[in-house]
Amino acid sequence: LVGLLERIGARAPIIQAPMAGAAGPALAIAAIRGGAVGSLPCALLTPEQVIAQAGAVRAAAKGPLNLNFFCHAMPAPPDETAWRALLQPYYAAEAARPAASPPLRLPFDAAMCAALERVRPEVVSFHFGLPDVSLLARVRASGALVLGNATTRDEMHWLAAQGVDAVIAQGAEAGGHAGWFLGKRHSPTMLAELLGPLLPVPVIAAGGIVDGQGIARALAAGATAVQIGTAYLACPESSIAGPFRALLGTATDSQFTNLFSGREARGLVNRLMRELGPIRGEVPAFPYGSAALAPLRAKAEADGRGDYSPLWAGTGAPRVRAMGAEQLTRTLAAELRAAQEAA
Ligand SMILES: Cc1cc2nc3c(=O)[nH]c(=O)nc-3n(C[C@H](O)[C@H](O)[C@H](O)COP(=O)(O)O)c2cc1C
Repeated sequence: LVGLLERIGARAPIIQAPMAGAAGPALAIAAIRGGAVGSLPCALLTPEQVIAQAGAVRAAAKGPLNLNFFCHAMPAPPDETAWRALLQPYYAAEAARPAASPPLRLPFDAAMCAALERVRPEVVSFHFGLPDVSLLARVRASGALVLGNATTRDEMHWLAAQGVDAVIAQGAEAGGHAGWFLGKRHSPTMLAELLGPLLPVPVIAAGGIVDGQGIARALAAGATAVQIGTAYLACPESSIAGPFRALLGTATDSQFTNLFSGREARGLVNRLMRELGPIRGEVPAFPYGSAALAPLRAKAEADGRGDYSPLWAGTGAPRVRAMGAEQLTRTLAAELRAAQEAA
């Protein structure tokens, strides 16, 4: 039986997770060379950057590429007064100088769709729901395998009804933004609860998987493939800052926090999360939450501190291994084979 990802050229049932702000072409190239589907997170990129980065991957690695987009609704730019007032003691204590606001995470649109049609990736994945039907039809017509991200059983059924080729079941163990999109609030659901009684579409398991044994468990529970983020963060090809890298493999405490973007994302607990609490109502609505922190983040990171930085990582963070992403991919595949043979 040829698996979903093997049909498009992957040698292992693994998608290297797209991680906006934390990885780009270097990680995708190495993951593809190792036999996985490599991903480019596009939420922080312009269409021109998407085309350039995809070109860099295509030039260096032959294999399946996933372009990943966000589908959140953009609110009006919010009033940041309450949030900046809460941060005032930190601005004063750090004597932080104004820093350029980081790029905003923007939703998939017609210009991005045109870039996608030029790149013709093997896979397109969407976070926070799906684009409108006319854009989705264009994505489908490009020939890509279309994936949607679900954090609840309801979202899995909704995505299946929209005709996606597979659903990414993102358990509450997962690092980064929980891609919830139905209902009024985030309702964290563990991966084991999302798997199980089968849906009419294949399911790709995500959250807390860092080794081949974890992949084998997810496949035995009904998943077709896995999407792995945190384990790839520890690879030298990721682009995370030194203080964050130093915590991977050791830090055990991760929580959902909205402090760094305005939406819930799982990350390692740092000073800001400890002192303000991980969830605050004052944070401007997603994706506007990151601007006010930029000066504090720049100052602290220059001093080697991750006090105000998002340290987005999943519950597997203490168990990751620092090795090149090509070798990690081959190791995961070998461990999976060994686990399946032993079963
Ligand atoms: C630093 C970081 C950034 C992430 N950014 C994205 C993103 O841009 N798009 C996306 O669909 N998922 C993103 N995710 C979530 C991953 O796709 C995936 O759900 C998660 O990494 C799986 O759990 P794991 O980290 O325990 O392996 C991110 C995860 C991390 C750790």
